[in-house]
Amino acid sequence: MDSALPATQAKAEDASSSTRRETLSITDNRTGKVYEVPITHGTIRAVDLRQLRVDPADFGMISYDPAYNNTASCISRITYIDGDAGILRYRGYPIEELAEKSTYLETAYLLLHGELPTSAQLQDWHYHITHHTFIHESIKKFLDGFHYDAHPMGMLVSTIAALSTFYHDAKDVFNPASRKKQTYRLMGKMPTIAAFSYRHTLGMPFVYPDNELSYPGNFLNMLFRTSETRYRPNPTLEHALDILFILHADHEQNCSTNTIRGVGSSHVDPYCAAAAAIAALYGPLHGGANEEVLRMLNEIGTIQRVPEFIKRVKSGEMRLMGFGHRVYKNYDPRARIIKKIAYEVFDLMGKNPLLEIALECERIALEDDYFVKRKLYPNVDFYTGLIYQSMGFPMTMFPVLFAIPRMSGWLAQWEEMLLDPEQKIARPRQIYLGHDPRPYVAIDQRS
Ligand code: ACO
Repeated sequence: MDSALPATQAKAEDASSSTRRETLSITDNRTGKVYEVPITHGTIRAVDLRQLRVDPADFGMISYDPAYNNTASCISRITYIDGDAGILRYRGYPIEELAEKSTYLETAYLLLHGELPTSAQLQDWHYHITHHTFIHESIKKFLDGFHYDAHPMGMLVSTIAALSTFYHDAKDVFNPASRKKQTYRLMGKMPTIAAFSYRHTLGMPFVYPDNELSYPGNFLNMLFRTSETRYRPNPTLEHALDILFILHADHEQNCSTNTIRGVGSSHVDPYCAAAAAIAALYGPLHGGANEEVLRMLNEIGTIQRVPEFIKRVKSGEMRLMGFGHRVYKNYDPRARIIKKIAYEVFDLMGKNPLLEIALECERIALEDDYFVKRKLYPNVDFYTGLIYQSMGFPMTMFPVLFAIPRMSGWLAQWEEMLLDPEQKIARPRQIYLGHDPRPYVAIDQRS
């Protein structure tokens, strides 16, 4: 197993490992046997437990970990999170620095290639992505087939999967040139398909990509252009969207990333694997949470009703959407940056009337024992919905705005999985507690 730890942590481990034994002794009280299994980076290999058997016919011990609460499924060098300290880094670079100094396309390059690009590399990257933004005219027919009130995430899932039927070369997943091509296509076409889905729901004509604009600027153009001969995105909104894209680009082994790795492990083409990841992101406990936050704030309606709502949350009737995280047990660092952007957008577009309700929810929750004890803090989704709404996006577009930038992280994780010699088709074990063998009962004899 190679190092997946930050350098300082790895060094500290190296120093102490010379004086202590990096093994775990396990006594199996069923047999009295003692086993010694190696520990690497604070981890034991689950397969080492298989040697614990009560007799030769025994399959061997396995570990039970529903929802992967304490299981590493891969070694990764892409994103580092320290949930207790509220740290997020892409390829070693702190998210705060990237949000301040980088652009989304540069950050996407970093995630996919491991290093920041030189200016020539960045130019080339930009060129190839902007030259893959157009979609086949037949794909427009797919979009036209959706009902007028279809959710844009549903359209995105289906249309990204449909791309697989257009690009047969995508099946060649072990060919680096093919992977590069599909990466350009997926990165380039995501905003186009997302914007076309939005325009379809409005019954408005599709706006074709403008390759002179930035990645977020062109997206705003495809969404909002009406009769202007040339759309000029507002620089504050373009910049805010770019930062939001950086913050959403990757987040290590979350539900949708685990999905692209799991589905991709069957060596299916990246369009089908990415469609599965988008489907996972659609769920209200994942990327759908920002939409749920707005619904919740609307339902609360006034500041005066916040305490009553919090009471209902504490009684287990519902969750405070946009709060809590499997990994962050401290303030989500992305939420801190987003709160700042929110004020920049509100200065331009006017304050979102739901902001006061959100701030009151946060204030009460951060002081309340229920939330403090469970380490429930605002996550990335708590404020994004308010910003998106102020920018003119309908609620149904919120998870789409998450999916577009996450494509870079998904593709980086997909490629890392494919090239990892230790990875195989993902196939967990189960604990079977169903019936023992029993004879088939004829239908007229069933009670
Ligand atoms: N509101 C109220 N209580 C909560 C919340 C919440 N938002 N989140 C967790 N809890 C409580 C649980 O009821 C549980 O309490 P208990 O110990 O008394 O049973 C405890 O906190 C632990 O919760 P789990 O569900 O075990 O935590 P888990 O790590 O499985 O869930 C999750 C994480 C899904 C994000 C959860 O906090 C949640 O549902 N949050 C609301 C949805 C949300 O905002 N999702 C976005 C996540 S960020 C992202 O995907 C981009």
